[in-house]
Amino acid sequence: MEFLDVVRRRKTTNGPFLPDAVTPEHQRLLMEVAGRAPSQLNSQPWRFLIIEDRATIEQVATISGASMTEAMSNGAFFERYRRYFRFSAEEMETRRDGMLFDHLPAPLRPFTKQVFTRRGQRLMNTLRVPQILGEENRKLVAGSPLLLAVMLDRSEYRPDELSSFYSVFSMGAAMENVWLATVELGMGIQFISFPMEVPGQWKRLVELFAVPDGLELMAVYRLGYVPESARRPAIDWTSAQRKRPSQYVFRGTCATPQTGWDGPSR
Ligand SMILES: Cc1cc2nc3c(=O)[nH]c(=O)nc-3n(C[C@H](O)[C@H](O)[C@H](O)COP(=O)(O)O)c2cc1C
Repeated sequence: MEFLDVVRRRKTTNGPFLPDAVTPEHQRLLMEVAGRAPSQLNSQPWRFLIIEDRATIEQVATISGASMTEAMSNGAFFERYRRYFRFSAEEMETRRDGMLFDHLPAPLRPFTKQVFTRRGQRLMNTLRVPQILGEENRKLVAGSPLLLAVMLDRSEYRPDELSSFYSVFSMGAAMENVWLATVELGMGIQFISFPMEVPGQWKRLVELFAVPDGLELMAVYRLGYVPESARRPAIDWTSAQRKRPSQYVFRGTCATPQTGWDGPSR
């Protein structure tokens, strides 16, 4: 595949993966490209844990699903991330960022405007939306053939020091290499981040993965091969939209937005 096509086709997989195990060669390739990433002074502060054990994946799935249900039922998730939620194509066309919730169960559609209100939260809890989403999330994670945990070496990742920015940046670069390589390999990838949203849940993953004191667990992903066509989850979003260059690029000084590049989105 052409490199630019790989970059343009890279995306997050919200749906299920095929049950097929990720081949050892593809696992080796994903770790090779991760290790090729840039890092401050070539310190390579990243460490990766590959998980294929079904029992461990099931436990992560249970923790992730329960975390999603809790974060959604106590309103914390909506409060924290409301500014990224879009419910109309017009709003998305204007903002060109965030998540467009374009796939919602019929009973919920009339209430999208209220989703961030107390009344909306009570309605969602009455309709058991947090439980439904939590169970869907558990199934998605449990159905993944492979999980990837990413850690940083604490001798490099020292919060409140410049090294923490450098280390997180390097980790991001390594994960982008992995993300891009999934396109080439016919695979998909998605963050498992709800355990980060609920106090105490992340620590359970640290224990489950036997993360040593010298490492900081930074992120967990689910990976697998993408089916030709998959049923969209009950509540689903798209986030392929991107800002126009004139909205995020400047020329000379920040007083001058870049013009003439805002062609039709690819
Ligand atoms: C730091 C970070 C955290 C993210 N957390 C989540 C997440 O919890 N769940 C999810 O589905 N996607 C997550 N994503 C993926 C973004 O939602 C996604 O990259 C963005 O919506 C653009 O969509 P795309 O990746 O399909 O181009 C995260 C991405 C980043 C860089």
